[in-house]
Amino acid sequence: MADNNNSLPEHIGIIMDGNGRWAAKRGLPRSLGHSAGMKRMIGLAKKAKEAGVHYLTVYALSTENFSRPQEELDGLYALIKKYFKGQAAKLIKSGAAVKIIGDLSLLPPDVAQIIQKGAEKSPADAEFTFIIALGYGARSEIVRAANLAKDKEGALTEGDFASLLYTGGVPDPDLIIRTGGEVRLSNFLLWQAAYAELYFTDTLFPDFTDKKFEKALNEYSSRARRFGGV
Ligand code: FPP
Repeated sequence: MADNNNSLPEHIGIIMDGNGRWAAKRGLPRSLGHSAGMKRMIGLAKKAKEAGVHYLTVYALSTENFSRPQEELDGLYALIKKYFKGQAAKLIKSGAAVKIIGDLSLLPPDVAQIIQKGAEKSPADAEFTFIIALGYGARSEIVRAANLAKDKEGALTEGDFASLLYTGGVPDPDLIIRTGGEVRLSNFLLWQAAYAELYFTDTLFPDFTDKKFEKALNEYSSRARRFGGV
């Protein structure tokens, strides 16, 4: 396969880490770190759309995050409700789609309902899809797909299996960015990330400006992607 055949990623994933530390550095409660993170998330979705990226997937709430203190979870739920009552509709009005991946039954029913309602008017033929992972864990996504596969007859291809994941129909991410200094995937898009370029930065998520995002895009375009070829 050709080197560097794609200078702009079609699909970007972001692990939005470092909100808590951003707040602690300022002597603020963690909840304010998450609200600063949400603002940045909204800004990056706008930026990605304008740049011509087709899919942006953000890791907003993992299956592991449910073990956080209830107070922090309640703060996150309040932010999520606010987003789906306001900004999501705004994005959809601009022609984009909003898609949820994950198990919404892990969230309180009222929050799940607002999320579903907020995303339901998404157009089917959008140029830009904002994918929000909520109650998401890649291992449980894979196990769920394996269970769905049991009902299929005959041997499954990789493509058949991929279509049973939450991301069925969405191309694999070309680039995965993780902010906040940790160097791991933490159960995010494990199947889909097989050939993704990985970009790690120490920048805490609320400080991950559009300019820093552009730097990640530039680095991506300078890397050679050979998909196991030469
Ligand atoms: C990780 O930082 C971040 C999260 C667990 C939550 C991310 C959520 C948002 C940015 C808002 C989402 C909003 C919507 C509408 C989907 P951390 O708390 O683990 O940071 P730390 O490692 O510094 O403690």
